[in-house]
Amino acid sequence: METVVSGIRSTGNLHLGNYFGMIRQAVRMQAEYNCYFFVADLHSLTTHPKPLDFQQNVKQVLVEFLACGIDPDKCTLYVQSDIPEISELYLIMNMLAYKGELERVVTFKDKARKQPDNINAGLLTYPVLMAVDIIIQHADKVPVGKDQEQHLEMTRNYVKRFNSMYGVNYFHEPLAFNYEKNLIKIPGLDGSGKMGKSEGGKNAVYLMDKPEQIRNKIMRAVTDSGPEKPNSTKTDAIQNLFALLNIVSKPDTVQFFENQYNHCNIRYGDLKKQLAEDIIKFTTPFREKMEALSDDDLYIQNIRKQGAEKARITARKTLEDVREIIGIKAK
Ligand code: TYM
Repeated sequence: METVVSGIRSTGNLHLGNYFGMIRQAVRMQAEYNCYFFVADLHSLTTHPKPLDFQQNVKQVLVEFLACGIDPDKCTLYVQSDIPEISELYLIMNMLAYKGELERVVTFKDKARKQPDNINAGLLTYPVLMAVDIIIQHADKVPVGKDQEQHLEMTRNYVKRFNSMYGVNYFHEPLAFNYEKNLIKIPGLDGSGKMGKSEGGKNAVYLMDKPEQIRNKIMRAVTDSGPEKPNSTKTDAIQNLFALLNIVSKPDTVQFFENQYNHCNIRYGDLKKQLAEDIIKFTTPFREKMEALSDDDLYIQNIRKQGAEKARITARKTLEDVREIIGIKAK
C-alpha cells in the first residue's frame, strides 16, 4: 500500500483553502492509503509564537483535523515535535541543501518581503524540514494545495541528491497529490491570489467562523462595477467569487449566476448572499464538531500520544538507516 504524508502549520484556524487544498483529499485518502497526517508545529516557530499560544494552536489544529473527518483509527495523526527523529534528520539534510536554491524559493521570497525584520535561518531552510517530514515516512503521495508544489519539487531534489551522494537507492521521490489531477488554489476575498492565514483575517473564511462573520466577510469581498458587454471576461475579483461558488454551491446555482453575469444583469449582492449561505451550510457541521471537541483535552491528548508512538516507529527506523548510510553509525 502506498504511503501518504501531509501536514498543516499550527499558525491559526483552518480556512477553506486548507480544507479544499489538503483536508478533503486527506479524508478520502485514509481509506485507500497508509496515511500520516500531522500538525507542523516546528514550522510555526519561524514566527516566534508565544509559548502559551504555541500549545493552544497545536491543540486547535488537532481539533480541526478531527472535526473535519481525519480519523485516528484510519491514519496516524501526530504532532511534528513529538517525533524528535525529524529534527535530527533535518540537521543531516541541511548539509545537502544549498543557500542559492533555498533563496530562490517563492514562499521564502514572499515571507522575506512580508517580514523583513525576521528573515531567520529556519525560514530559509523551511523546505528542508518539510522534505524531512515527507521522506522520514517514505511517502509516495503528498496531498497539498498548489502553493506547496515547489516544496515537493525540492523534496525530490533532496531525495536524488542524498541517493546519489551516498550511492544508494534509499529514499524515493514523492509526488504532490490531488484527486482532481491538478493541485488547486482557493482564492481569497480581497480580489488577489490566494486565501491564506497570513493575508489578514478578512481575506480568509475560517471553518470556525460563525454565520455572522461569514456573511460580513463575504458581503465585504472585493467586486467590480459589473460587466458592460454580454459574455465579457471576468475580472480577478469576480472570478474568485465564482470559484468559491463553484466549490460550495450546487451546479444550477452557479449556472444561474453565470447566466446573469453573461446577460449583464447580475447583482453581486445577491450572488454574495447566496455564497455566504452556502458556505455557512458547508462549514456549520465542522464548527459544531470543533466546539464539541474543544473541551475534551483528555481525548485529544490520548490521540496525540498514540499517533506519536506509531509515527516514531517508522521515523526511528529511517533515522537509523540514514545514520548507517552516511557513516555516523558503523554498519
Ligand atoms: P499550510 O499550513 O500553509 O497549509 C496547509 C495545507 O493547506 C493548503 N492550502 C491551500 N490549498 C489551496 N488553496 C489555498 N488558498 C490554500 N492555502 C493553504 C496548503 O497547500 C497545504 O497543503 N509547508 C506546509 C506544511 C507542511 C507540510 C509538510 C505539508 C509542513 N511539512 C509535509 C505536506 C507535507 C504549509 O505551510 O502548509
